Amino acid sequence: MSRVFSGVQPTGNLHLGNYLGAIKNFVRLQENHECIYCVVDLHAITAWQSPPELSQNTREVAAAYLAAGVDPKRSVIFNQSAVTVHAELAWIFNCVARLGWLNRMTQFKEKAGKNRENASVGLYIYPSLMAADILAYRATHVPVGEDQKQHLELTRDIAQKFNYDFGTDFFPIVQPLIFDSAARVMSLRDGRRKMSKSDPSDNSRINITDDPDTIVRKIRRAKTDPEPVPDGSGTLGTPSTRPEAFNLLEVYAALGDFSKSEIMSEFGGRPFSEFKARLAEVAVETLGPLGDEMRRLMGDPSEIDRVLIEGAARAEHIARPILGDIYDIVGFLKTGSSFSEN
Ligand code: TYM
Repeated sequence: MSRVFSGVQPTGNLHLGNYLGAIKNFVRLQENHECIYCVVDLHAITAWQSPPELSQNTREVAAAYLAAGVDPKRSVIFNQSAVTVHAELAWIFNCVARLGWLNRMTQFKEKAGKNRENASVGLYIYPSLMAADILAYRATHVPVGEDQKQHLELTRDIAQKFNYDFGTDFFPIVQPLIFDSAARVMSLRDGRRKMSKSDPSDNSRINITDDPDTIVRKIRRAKTDPEPVPDGSGTLGTPSTRPEAFNLLEVYAALGDFSKSEIMSEFGGRPFSEFKARLAEVAVETLGPLGDEMRRLMGDPSEIDRVLIEGAARAEHIARPILGDIYDIVGFLKTGSSFSEN
């Protein structure tokens, strides 16, 4: 059986990369998969979050899922801290994962920066919590952007080592679902850096909640070069020589579900200003209604909370018996009250 699991951190500034690289695919996958979508608040606190903002941002990610079209009747939507199995299984995985594996994680190195000694322990063991998120449901497929690929490889390593150590095939070896289009949306100011929630420049990203005027302005000001739009022949550059230009083509393709060759034959050789005007139109057409619906939902937090409460109960119902099986495999006695119904 296939089961999809994915998550987004409630750390504010949800942007076009989160939408195109992840959330848009969440919607598509629910057509023919059982899907579980989490707001990963436990992951968020690996770096300091102001408590009121964390609550607000948690609801905002849930609102983004709903506004984008994730259907809470069909898919499970919940916040991670509501289902304690995640933290409980993460501990077991902390005892399976090896220091050497975590030492290789590039995201830890980037996020901890030069002052590694001062990073939280949580940030270091972040990937074993992520493995627990996925494997608590024995999920088989995980839609993510390209930047999460290494974490999913670690999830596979943890599953394999657990299976080997305990002589079982209990955990599936998860498949990352990284789609070709917009798996790595780049900053609007620097085509060699990914678009990121934490970039200090708001002009580097299009936030899902930006109003139409802001979207148009950010796209007009997005960094490009004096050359016209690439036409696919290679004479007008390649993604490595013109990263900003190709990034905007990628974004346009993903937003409008166009193929890149279609776009290049339509716009190739034309001035970038013309292409940017069309890109801005498509971006406003897509993000405008999404932002409006998010604002509507955020106006009624009780409706969002209802979805999260119901989702947490459904998630718990799947994950708790799985944790029970894991306790049996590890040799823990299931004397705790959380197992009394099983
Ligand atoms: P997070 O919150 O940083 O990002 C959420 C999703 O958005 C994708 N993404 C991008 N895609 C394309 N271009 C970009 N510039 C871009 N920036 C972000 C991310 O790849 C991700 O899919 N560790 C995860 C959250 C997580 C998770 C999980 C994901 C926790 N547990 C279990 C899957 C399964 C994260 O920090 O995502």
